[in-house]
Amino acid sequence: MGTKERNKFLMETSPEQYTFTAKFLHWLIAIGIIFMFILGWFMEALPKEAPKSSSYDLFNLGIYTWELAKETSPRSFYFNLHKSIGITLFTLIIFRFYWRFTHRPPALLKTMKSWEKKLATTAHHGLYLLMILTPLAGIIMSIASKYGIKWFGIKIIPGIDDGGLREIFHEFHIIFGILILGILFFHITGAVKHSLIDKDGTIQRMWFKIK
Ligand code: HEM
Ligand code: HEM
Repeated sequence: MGTKERNKFLMETSPEQYTFTAKFLHWLIAIGIIFMFILGWFMEALPKEAPKSSSYDLFNLGIYTWELAKETSPRSFYFNLHKSIGITLFTLIIFRFYWRFTHRPPALLKTMKSWEKKLATTAHHGLYLLMILTPLAGIIMSIASKYGIKWFGIKIIPGIDDGGLREIFHEFHIIFGILILGILFFHITGAVKHSLIDKDGTIQRMWFKIK
């Protein structure tokens, strides 16, 4: 089958809508990833030497206070929180991949120009790839450190204390993160352009139907 016939075949056999699960995972993971950036930047700015505490007011906002069984330094608390939420997000992302492979998404809108379709599809594929690579680099970096990974206090993977490996995957973690942000810029600009200028219902396609 040539590219033209294949595209026609895909258009004719594609479902009308994203499944509820695809929409739910899109928004839950989007919020999760944005939260991970904020948490990552916040924790990097914390001082290396600081008094230990057993209660942490999350981001010092006065909204939610986390109570711990043991006293910990602020860096250790926020780093462990980043790893715990990151691991949780990673399993959700793997499930999203499974869902994507077993449930075809709807074809892009017919009104989109061919370059728009190419750009949107490339952005989607790039986001899928980086959604896996960013946490994976974080996981390998954490295993390479002397601390390993705890999931909300439960030790799940011990650290091997290999400084060189840790440094390499720290770099990857940062580079993949920057790439995600770069693609997200196009992804969000595209979504806003379709909703404000083209008014073609693109955001509604990814949103939940009330009826
Ligand atoms: C970290 C944040 C985000 C990630 C990783 C992400 C990822 C993705 C991916 C991979 C798809 C393709 C789904 C598929 O066809 O299988 C998609 C679709 C979509 N995203 Fe996002 N997204 C994010 C944030 C956002 C935001 C903030 C908006 C809105 C402003 C948005 C709007 C949309 C829309 C409207 C679609 C559907 C496009 C269509 O098929 O018509 N996304 N997103
Ligand atoms: C999509 C998910 C993730 C995002 C968006 C993310 C983002 C970030 C960001 C923005 C930083 C600060 C970068 C820097 O200046 O060093 C960071 C640091 C870090 N991340 Fe992640 N992260 C994710 C998942 C994970 C996971 C799953 C783990 C491990 C289980 C992890 C472990 C770490 C560690 C240990 C650091 C601190 C590195 C250091 O300074 O020693 N991250 N992350």
